[in-house]
Amino acid sequence: MKKPLVVSVTGAAGQIGYSLLPRIASGQVFGPDQPVSLRLIEIEPGMKALAGVVMELNDCAFPLLESIEATSDLDAGFDGANWALLVGSVPRKAGMERKDLLGINGKIFIGQGQAIERNASDDIRVLVVGNPCNTNCLIAMNNARSIPADRWFAMTRLDENRAKSALAEKAGVHNRDITKLAIWGNHSSTLYPDFENALINGDPVSKFIPERAWLEGDFIKNVQQRGAAIIAARGLSSAKSAAHAAIETVQALREATPADDWHSVALASDGSYGVEKGLICSFPTRSKGDGSASIVQGVDLGEFGQAKFQLSVNELLEEKAMVSELLP
Ligand code: NAD
Ligand code: LMR
Repeated sequence: MKKPLVVSVTGAAGQIGYSLLPRIASGQVFGPDQPVSLRLIEIEPGMKALAGVVMELNDCAFPLLESIEATSDLDAGFDGANWALLVGSVPRKAGMERKDLLGINGKIFIGQGQAIERNASDDIRVLVVGNPCNTNCLIAMNNARSIPADRWFAMTRLDENRAKSALAEKAGVHNRDITKLAIWGNHSSTLYPDFENALINGDPVSKFIPERAWLEGDFIKNVQQRGAAIIAARGLSSAKSAAHAAIETVQALREATPADDWHSVALASDGSYGVEKGLICSFPTRSKGDGSASIVQGVDLGEFGQAKFQLSVNELLEEKAMVSELLP
């Protein structure tokens, strides 16, 4: 038996947690021979519901689930963590932009960053899901400066999956036929799903979808607004698809990326594509399979894509300015 991986999940009694936890405990995320110890973190008002979640996890009798600790104490919650999935935070309601949550959620990530720095394992990897995830990740990372910047990620995989699904439907192909579909920028209504470098069965998207006006218009808008459309339909924000995207993000970071593909995740910019160093921005990335990712170089966004990307980067800079007092 391998040594158990310690996986900390915040907001564990929430909607995403409910979809995410059984999949981690079952071995789908970290592998069929990898035991996991779960540290489930909630705020005090969530602890009663979390006790019920723990009962259900126990009742699944997962062979790979080594132990569960449910806590509202951040030091205990991140103790020895190899992976931290930061989901806990308030979701937006209809009519809000994700950045409207910064005032409520931003400060959560100060204490969490500090507690991760104090308690996590040396090989810690952090994925921020709670919104606005790019800037929340920036806050946590800056409050844990002894942890290398290449360990911090924010989730744009859901946007990638949405974009793939929309393109596949329009082109009359399967999702799996689409590769190199990257999200650039912020997980927000300015994100840019790059249809110009994406491929369908190895060919440019334009071969299957010649209608450039649709690609530049409804396609981008629908991906940008998909989260809001789900809130309008469900009265709650996406959870099953969000949990699935979190799982795929972790898997993509832990597996070597095929040479003919890339995946989307927001990570600390190294200055690539003119993006300010340290800003948590989504790029096309590749992983070697060691829990890290590097930004794919030399992708030509073209004039249209570059202008869209710049709008999203500008928004990230605005968000950073909004939380400047949270960044030591
Ligand atoms: P939810 O309200 O169902 O659950 C959130 C949970 O977090 C609650 O149980 C709450 O008690 C807990 N919580 C709040 N503050 C906390 C803190 N300081 N520490 C620990 N736990 C805390 O919400 P949800 O639907 O699970 O969504 C969670 C977050 O994920 C939201 O911010 C949402 O907008 C975001 N989200 C992001 C993406 C993405 O693609 N990045 C996708 C979907 C949702
Ligand atoms: C999503 O994209 O579904 C999430 O970020 C939730 C939201 O507020 O849209």
